[in-house]
Amino acid sequence: MNREQSLKDFMLACQARVEEALDARLPAAGKLPERLHQAMRYSTLGGGKRLRPLLVYATGQALGVGLDVLDGPACAVEFIHVYSLIHDDLPAMDNDDLRRGKPTCHKAFDEATAILAGDALQALAFQVLAQDPSIAVPAESRLAMVDALTVASGSCGMVGGQAIDLDSVGKALDLPGLEAMHIRKTGALIRASVRLAALAKPDLEETLADRLDHYAKCMGLAFQIQDDILDVESDTQTLGKTQGKDRDNNKPTYPALLGLNGAREKAAELHEEAQQSLSALGAEADHLRALASFIVQRQS
Ligand code: IPE
Ligand code: IPE
Ligand code: MG
Ligand code: MG
Ligand code: MG
Repeated sequence: MNREQSLKDFMLACQARVEEALDARLPAAGKLPERLHQAMRYSTLGGGKRLRPLLVYATGQALGVGLDVLDGPACAVEFIHVYSLIHDDLPAMDNDDLRRGKPTCHKAFDEATAILAGDALQALAFQVLAQDPSIAVPAESRLAMVDALTVASGSCGMVGGQAIDLDSVGKALDLPGLEAMHIRKTGALIRASVRLAALAKPDLEETLADRLDHYAKCMGLAFQIQDDILDVESDTQTLGKTQGKDRDNNKPTYPALLGLNGAREKAAELHEEAQQSLSALGAEADHLRALASFIVQRQS
């Protein structure tokens, strides 16, 4: 089987796996308060690339951690991601109508419900990490997972990046400023995805943990650069979200600062650096390698 086909099979299997795991962990649509639970399920299920769960599973595979242990961390990071998307789309933030090929949460429900669905998904993420019996790791590893995801989600991670993003509208950020924003708003959760899986292996040697972290740091930044590129050159149908939003909202982006080719070159450099970080690992890290290529080559 060639490498592309193998990644495709891995992605399909993990996407189906996490869909089932998310469904099982979300409150039922008929449970009180029904409208809130319906909104949480509407935004979480049946869409998205599930890149963060894929990184959790692929890192687990590289380290010989059983996938059963990783369903909880994979769901937790996806719940945080979905909450971030719901809030990112709100009128007070990016004001978007389309997400994952369907109306955004506040369009399908209402603004207040969308705010609360995001809030509740955030709480659910930590409930899963704290309680889920399938996360069969020592208590201190579980606590370290909670810590890693809180830091990545909070004011020095994703929420901090979103704050810089909103504060930067109409301003010309320089390259270090842009990097600082992207590393937080998108990079932090991608990095946390790899870290959560690494924490499921309590005896992991520090050098390897650092290499995996460097891989994830590079890929987190590259992921947002590609997101910015696609906002310029793709189309709404392919993206499942409104193309051209960054320009309309006057956002500082890599293509705006470096041009499309400059942005592509930067993503390619980060891809190369990420691949080098995995050089000490063998074929067990092939899905991580293939995911790195997918991140910079993806069209949606
Ligand atoms: C979109 O993330 C928002 C960013 C952080 C750039 P994804 O491109 O991973 O969105 P889904 O989950 O596939 O919809
Ligand atoms: C969003 O960045 C990052 C988070 C949701 C934390 P964008 O605003 O570029 O994401 P899209 O393009 O709307 O998916
Ligand atoms: Mg945004
Ligand atoms: Mg947005
Ligand atoms: Mg974007």
